[in-house]
Amino acid sequence: MGKELSFLLLALVLCHGLTLTTAYKGDKQWRKERETVEEEGDRRTEDRFLMPRSRPVMRTDAGEMRVVRSLRVRIIEKPLHIGFITMEPQSLLIPQYLDSSLILFVRRGEARVGCIYNDEMVERRLKIGDVYHIPAGSTFYILNPGEGQRLQIICSIDPSESMNLGTFQSFFIGGGTYPTSVLAGFSPETLSTAFNVSVSRLKEFLMRQQDGPIVHVAPSHAPSIWTRLSQLQVEDRLKQVKRIVQGEVEQVKEWSWWNLFGMFSRNGGKIFKDKAPHSYNIYKRSPDFRNDYGWSVAVDESDYKPLKDSGTGIYLVNLTAGSMMAPHVNPRATEYGIVLRGTGRIQIVFPNGTLAMDTKVKEGDVFCVPRYFAFCQIASRSSPFEFFGFTTSSHKNMPQFLAGANSLLHALRTPELAAAFGVTEERMRRFIDAQNEAVILPSASAAPAGDEEESEAVPEVIKSFGNDMIMGSD
Ligand SMILES: *[C@@H]1O[C@H](CO)[C@@H](O)[C@H](O)[C@H]1NC(C)=O
Ligand SMILES: *[C@@H]1O[C@H](CO)[C@@H](O)[C@H](O)[C@H]1NC(C)=O
Ligand SMILES: *[C@@H]1O[C@H](CO)[C@@H](O)[C@H](O)[C@H]1NC(C)=O
Repeated sequence: MGKELSFLLLALVLCHGLTLTTAYKGDKQWRKERETVEEEGDRRTEDRFLMPRSRPVMRTDAGEMRVVRSLRVRIIEKPLHIGFITMEPQSLLIPQYLDSSLILFVRRGEARVGCIYNDEMVERRLKIGDVYHIPAGSTFYILNPGEGQRLQIICSIDPSESMNLGTFQSFFIGGGTYPTSVLAGFSPETLSTAFNVSVSRLKEFLMRQQDGPIVHVAPSHAPSIWTRLSQLQVEDRLKQVKRIVQGEVEQVKEWSWWNLFGMFSRNGGKIFKDKAPHSYNIYKRSPDFRNDYGWSVAVDESDYKPLKDSGTGIYLVNLTAGSMMAPHVNPRATEYGIVLRGTGRIQIVFPNGTLAMDTKVKEGDVFCVPRYFAFCQIASRSSPFEFFGFTTSSHKNMPQFLAGANSLLHALRTPELAAAFGVTEERMRRFIDAQNEAVILPSASAAPAGDEEESEAVPEVIKSFGNDMIMGSD
């Protein structure tokens, strides 16, 4: 055990280009340091890189959005918040734009997401496993058209273009008192002039929306502009819009909000040429890596171009019960992970080779691994461990493995390495070659037991997601 760990330490030091000899530690010295570290580990917060509980940022009886705010740690070069959106059947997240860009991942249910790209309004149908990018400042809405199906979305919220007012800022453009329209701040005379409508028409418009940012749109609910919008077929919706653009305005009173946002005012002709990006389904991709112990898939800008604009990558890992992802380092990006299913253990090590975190995680937990930090994820023995996440680079991630058949140590196998560990080359070879598997390894001894007894500690997010977090059952 001690030897393995000092190997890890050594490899880490190698990663940082220090000399081999400084990394060498005799067994006793190692043990002593290890004990000190463990004591320190007890004193400091265990869960340093486990992100805090989510907090609601929008909540109505039609749905809610909760957000896990990024850790305020200097070593994280690009903070992302993680959002969880839950929408009841037949509900709408009303049109708005944010000061942050989003990458949506549909966890369960189906969505229609309307979004503006370069003055084009497009609507996309998203299914389980679909990933979709919404740029900062783009007006969008999310509709759950399902009659009996809740919609659950996990999203990254990249605040790098934000105004740093709280977690993120929504600008609601549909008029109303709740949420308050961004237009409500202007004086009635200004708006009356700007829209060339009477003040009374304007008031009618701006007072409409009272039901909060997520509204029911089922026919059984009081009809509203949102209900009407939701009930149209996409084509009819576009036709309706086209009529407005071309000045056939018989229904312009109902539809004036389209005009309001200036969506189609410029470049009217381009509306129906749909060149905007489509969604990308992460479950349709065959895994980049697969063996008996699990699989992993990573999506970068070469797979899905919008990731380039957002500078974000996506990955999904499924470990069988009792397996582990071999200790590795992301030299290019910070990684955010969200546990989708099962329980497991995350170990993270500082670049100087001391333990940063060793924590059990369960569904809904969000963890963050800074760039250059070595870490591994271990599935508990009782169930598969599935996690999904975002990385802060849209380039190929190229993790460096520190153990296993494809580890860095194989590349570094030299007499100097053996000398650094104070062993013969032969012993070195046997040590390095002992693990036949790569990337995902069997790990009965490191795997935590199942955590049935912890089932009462289900976090709020998961409760709100219902008891049916398990993928693919519909
Ligand atoms: C304002 O609306 C009136 C008709 O209601 C129209 O005659 C006029 O041209 C419009 N003005 C502008 C600037 O669009
Ligand atoms: C993950 O693997 C388990 C078996 O280990 C399987 O039952 C489950 O369906 C897999 N999840 C996905 C999303 O493929
Ligand atoms: C290792 O680095 C961490 C974080 O920078 C620091 O808190 C810790 O004290 C360091 N430990 C040693 C033994 O240098």
